[in-house]
Amino acid sequence: MSASDSARQVVECRVCGAADWQEVVSFGPVPLANSYLDPADSYDDEPRYPLDVVSCRSCRLMTLTHVVDPEVLYRDYSYVTSDSETMDRHMRLVAKLCRERFDVPEGSFVVELGSNTGEQLMIFRDAGMRTLGIDPARSIAAVAEEQGIETLPEFFSASTAKSVAESHGQARVILGRHVFAHIDHVAGIAVGVRNLLEPEGVFAIEVPYALDMLERTEFDTIYHEHLSYYAVGTLATLFERHGLRVIDVERISVHGGSILVFVGHGDGPWQQRPAVKELIALEERAGLHDDATYREFAAKVRNVTESLTALVRGLRADGKRIAGYGAPAKGNTLLTVCGLGPDDLEFCSDTTDLKQGKVLPGSHVPVRTPEYAREHAPDHYLLLAWNYTEEILRKERAFLESGGKFIVLHPEPSVVSAESLAAAESVAAARRS
Ligand code: TYD
Ligand code: ZN
Repeated sequence: MSASDSARQVVECRVCGAADWQEVVSFGPVPLANSYLDPADSYDDEPRYPLDVVSCRSCRLMTLTHVVDPEVLYRDYSYVTSDSETMDRHMRLVAKLCRERFDVPEGSFVVELGSNTGEQLMIFRDAGMRTLGIDPARSIAAVAEEQGIETLPEFFSASTAKSVAESHGQARVILGRHVFAHIDHVAGIAVGVRNLLEPEGVFAIEVPYALDMLERTEFDTIYHEHLSYYAVGTLATLFERHGLRVIDVERISVHGGSILVFVGHGDGPWQQRPAVKELIALEERAGLHDDATYREFAAKVRNVTESLTALVRGLRADGKRIAGYGAPAKGNTLLTVCGLGPDDLEFCSDTTDLKQGKVLPGSHVPVRTPEYAREHAPDHYLLLAWNYTEEILRKERAFLESGGKFIVLHPEPSVVSAESLAAAESVAAARRS
């Protein structure tokens, strides 16, 4: 089967049904971001798929133009939730917000879509809830089971929802953290949620926030798994069409700026909190409904790409050794779009067992363990896992103090050192006092 056989071209908007698209960015055919390669394999026939983003002029959904078959993307998925303090703290916050705002008594049934290895559900289980994970990645679902979290190795759909409701009863909470934006047939999900959710239950989804992506030029979060880039207004339109209602929203910092959106039955007991209308108004003021905003984003993407490439190549010309810090999926978009490869980055260091010893798709940079990276420390690390910047800079104090530097992407590509961080910290401290 060729790559084009396993991708569907989007014609109508999955949210509103319109077909009036504005082109946003086009990154051309690129390999799948989580398809890490075995160094023993030949890379010549790496499947590539179009990676182009358009925006619906009617509801302002941003979507990829091509949807890769989920069977190809997720059955042998190697993505595991990062074992990090930042994520652990965040997952605790999600559980706390659900329980505090939407009255989730002990013994409630909590279902998670795209539950990965089960870490989020463990927090609910430890708070006395019954839990069930649903995740199509078979080997990852098996890891969750080993960790004591019952997990169905399935895609969530209207029929899965029906059978879970029959076998386990209805759910008080349905979670979808960083999975909802990966789903093409959102109407089927809405039908499933309506079936499975108790009348006073809450469906809590977390998606990267389109406003943050546009304002901070986070174009590397664009890869084939991320089909949709949602604003609150777009989600409100979507759920309203399917008998559900956005009842609350919280902006959160994970993955470069995300929103945690709470959804209830359209005729359910929960009033909509003011935060929902406030963010929709903010999106209008920020120009999310204007073509010009998306043209500006495309121009910023070109600038960042050019300045990062020039920065890296300049350092290489000065004889500096550079490695990637982390081998996240978004790093693969970044390196592919910038055309950076093994001549620029010697290796990427990553804590994930499944990635170590592999080679990055597209750029073909090898992935090494953090131990290897310490023994072969480069002059500069390109901080690919920038969503963990604070945690990583804290962890890499010794590297910085011995003269090592980081190339950071935000707010614009630049080099940070122990001295520049100390200077920035004293400016911040002066502002605070
Ligand atoms: P992740 O945040 O999951 O991003 P994406 O959705 O783009 O794949 O990826 C973070 C990657 O960084 C993951 O492979 C683990 C790695 N990592 C490290 O190597 N060291 C660290 O200290 C942290 C926090 C992450
Ligand atoms: Zn639309």
